[in-house]
Amino acid sequence: MIFNILSEFQDGITTITINRPTKLNALNRDTINELHRAFKAADKDKETRVIIVTGSGEKAFVAGADISEFSNFDESKGAKLAAKGHELLFDFVENLSTPVIAAVNGFALGGGLELAMACHFRVASENAKMGLPEVSLGVIPGYGGTQRLPQLVGKGRAMEMIMTAGMITAEQALNYGLVNHVVPQSELLTFCGGIANRIKKNSPKAIGEAIKSVNAGFKSGVNGYKKEIKGFGKCFGTEDFTEGTTAFLEKRKAEFTGN
Ligand code: COA
Repeated sequence: MIFNILSEFQDGITTITINRPTKLNALNRDTINELHRAFKAADKDKETRVIIVTGSGEKAFVAGADISEFSNFDESKGAKLAAKGHELLFDFVENLSTPVIAAVNGFALGGGLELAMACHFRVASENAKMGLPEVSLGVIPGYGGTQRLPQLVGKGRAMEMIMTAGMITAEQALNYGLVNHVVPQSELLTFCGGIANRIKKNSPKAIGEAIKSVNAGFKSGVNGYKKEIKGFGKCFGTEDFTEGTTAFLEKRKAEFTGN
């Protein structure tokens, strides 16, 4: 049996691999459902400190939503498709308490780039190409692309990328701030693992609150500063805070439990 995704745990890191290489890892309904379950399980798992998501094969991270599944949809089905996707995957990933790194190993187009953008940050391989080609299909990005791309690269660049439906190189994505690092493809997962190991040393509770606070600043109607004050206060009631401050004063390394 071939699974649409693979999930592997090692040393505090869960790596989720989208596994439809013959379809360039395009996101069909089953894959979105499986990703939802895998992200949920990894986030619940206390042993998992960081999640890395990548695509199988050397060609693609994800080449978009599976076009064959929605080509005959009407307006109402189209709207439902987008809403369900936000709920199960894109908003879901963005709001997880566990850090999620996108290891963009090739094409990240349409829903693929939208998934990478829903992750907390991105690292790309040198061969990666990114874009939102939806308008070339007669539709707009529907999994958060019109919102998250301007947040990450600025409105003008996002408008140009969306209107031209073109692809940018990894180098250009780095220049735009869409990805944080560009590395050779063979080193991508090791590089992401290195960042994950640095994250792992820190308090999971504090990291979860920091994610919520940063995200709050991008939500309309939510005051990010107020969220930060609340989250800051909440940290004082955690075991991680006691351990972190005690370890500092005792001049030893903190051993965080995420409680
Ligand atoms: N949905 C469904 N199937 C897809 C897909 C998608 N988004 N992207 C790629 N595939 C499938 C192709 O149909 C092909 O399947 P087949 O072998 O059964 O015919 C297979 O993946 C390989 O893709 P192919 O187009 O042959 O590879 P390529 O190297 O010539 O081109 C791309 C690569 C990424 C440029 C091209 O696949 C593409 O433009 N994909 C669609 C991108 C897109 O518009 N995404 C946004 C969707 S909203």
